[in-house]
Amino acid sequence: MTFPITRMRRMRKDDFSRRLMREHRLSADDLIYPMFVIEGTNTREPVPSMPGVERVSIDLLLKEAQELMDLGIPMVALFPVVGTEKKSLLAEEAYNPDGLAQRAVRALREHFPELGVMTDVALDPFTTHGQDGIIDEDGYVLNDVTVEVLVKQALSHAAAGAQVIAPSDMMDGRIGAIRDELEMEGHINTRIMAYSAKYASAYYGPFRDAVGSAGNLGKGNKFNYQMDPANTDEAIREVLLDLDEGADMVMVKPGMPYLDVVRRVKSELGVPTYAYQVSGEYAMQMAAFQNGWLDKDSVMMESLLAFKRAGADGILTYFAKDAARLLKG
Ligand code: PBG
Repeated sequence: MTFPITRMRRMRKDDFSRRLMREHRLSADDLIYPMFVIEGTNTREPVPSMPGVERVSIDLLLKEAQELMDLGIPMVALFPVVGTEKKSLLAEEAYNPDGLAQRAVRALREHFPELGVMTDVALDPFTTHGQDGIIDEDGYVLNDVTVEVLVKQALSHAAAGAQVIAPSDMMDGRIGAIRDELEMEGHINTRIMAYSAKYASAYYGPFRDAVGSAGNLGKGNKFNYQMDPANTDEAIREVLLDLDEGADMVMVKPGMPYLDVVRRVKSELGVPTYAYQVSGEYAMQMAAFQNGWLDKDSVMMESLLAFKRAGADGILTYFAKDAARLLKG
């Protein structure tokens, strides 16, 4: 009779030894909470394809911010949802100093100076066609023209007080252009979280419902600026470019289907690396939870821990509040 020389199960036997050898831990410090903002007062609208997620007016946003502070969540990511009358071909509303995003930032900064506020820099909420930039007569998104508008948008967010600017548009050269302008305008400490490796993903569907760009985009796609899901070397190049241009943090998006990319970025470059568990990842899990097919608390926490294991320093997730509540016990 021979016995196993190494018994891996010994360390798994009791809670104390499982705890002692646990390699990764999720904490509230790792979480960034994306929120959809709308006009009005005391107004909330559910997002049907994202059960539990609502679009809220600024006054309610402030109430939620208090909750985020209490839960120890470091940062909120804002996504404005504006009416069709605010949308145009040139997306002028994107850099309106009194636009919805800019007002939301100011309100949060005034009431919760310690809460991180991150803003989305991209034109899709403000274009009539739902693309992230300015298009030509063939519908092609023009890179350099778009970057000029993104720079104005980013500056208006920084001026409103956003500490973190997050370009999610995937235009070439936008990080450098935004960084230059921020420096020139004295916003030397405004952090840039670059959506560096952002894939052309079908997992963004529910988000496009939430911001009301899905109908406008119609059968259109973002294949000529977002990345091909087949590629990873290209992701490394994108990240390197954004770092060279002045990004402080880089992001991989979507999350769970792209954890290999998160791991490559972290292992090969060793920079602050974030991942976005996007709307479709939230929706598919919630669907299973609501059907009783999966257990919400344990699956949600397992999915978030996977990001830590892959090397993410933080996770944008619609589960941020639920997870932080569980962590608090
Ligand atoms: C827009 C933007 C998108 C998301 C964040 N910013 C959608 C898109 O690129 O079409 C997706 C987030 C999510 O799905 O949760 N530039």
